[in-house]
Amino acid sequence: MTSTATVPRSVTVRAPAKVNLELRVGPRRGDGFHALSTVYMAVGLYDEVAVATADDWEVLVGGPYAEQVPTDDTNLALIAAKTLAAEVDVAEPVSLRIHKEIPVAGGMAGGSADAAAALVACDQLWAVGMARDELVELGASLGSDVPFAMSGGIAMGSGRGEQLAPVLARGTFYWVFAVSTSGLSTPKVYAECDRLRGKAPVPAPEPSAGMMTALRSGDAEALGRALSNDLQTAAISLQPALREVLDAGQEFGALGSVVSGSGPTVAFLTASAEAALDLCVSLSASGVASEVKRAKAPVHGAQVLPGASRV
Ligand code: C5P
Repeated sequence: MTSTATVPRSVTVRAPAKVNLELRVGPRRGDGFHALSTVYMAVGLYDEVAVATADDWEVLVGGPYAEQVPTDDTNLALIAAKTLAAEVDVAEPVSLRIHKEIPVAGGMAGGSADAAAALVACDQLWAVGMARDELVELGASLGSDVPFAMSGGIAMGSGRGEQLAPVLARGTFYWVFAVSTSGLSTPKVYAECDRLRGKAPVPAPEPSAGMMTALRSGDAEALGRALSNDLQTAAISLQPALREVLDAGQEFGALGSVVSGSGPTVAFLTASAEAALDLCVSLSASGVASEVKRAKAPVHGAQVLPGASRV
């Protein structure tokens, strides 16, 4: 049994957003998920989740996207905390305070980041000490992108996206994100992808040689050319204005433009921190994007923050 003196009263974890550098969607599986071959990159846009022992379960959300996040039993961080509590037989409610910087329903795995952060935070708060691979497995049961939010960096995802493998990669990359005011539902985008594909057989998805070569070289121009997303056509079909955003990035000199995950956030790869700033200015001034963000990548996965945090 752990002495109470060593158990922290509150723990804060931050977890990053992701962009899919490549997202190849295979056939719909029997369980309703689609077989994927994807390459994830963790980007320096973070949500923070602070957990503290409380009399009852509660969720409080702050930050620019707070109003869009449910605080009831459907909140993913709350579900994650309760799932871990049930798994390890802890009967200790926590209050979860989430500071949300990752766009909601944007295709950047914000909900998965919150779930990953809550798992890592509660594991520490309750002094569970769960083995990393068990925590990752629990994360996978909560969402396909949760394991990657825990690992961060750059990784290849297979299965439904939850099975991760390392990728040989180098370099630092500078991204700009055009955030849409209205989100897209991930299941609806997958369903639209199926509808557009019709009845033709879909091959098993595989990583592309071009992407692997670009990552090995660390060459941002090659990576920009290799960006691809099988969900992009479906996202544009549901939100046609995305076409204009993608074209604007190209026009303003981005090395590559791609819809992030199931969208509607559009990710632009740029050559440097200065080029990223320039692109933000051009996108905003042209009126094509109401909100733009910049981020460096790759970054670490879910990490415990020392000391006090802003949440
Ligand atoms: O795993 P996650 O919670 O992100 O999945 C949300 C929804 O997205 C699933 O219920 C499913 O409709 C769709 N999805 C899919 N194939 C995947 C991942 C997600 O069809 N590989």
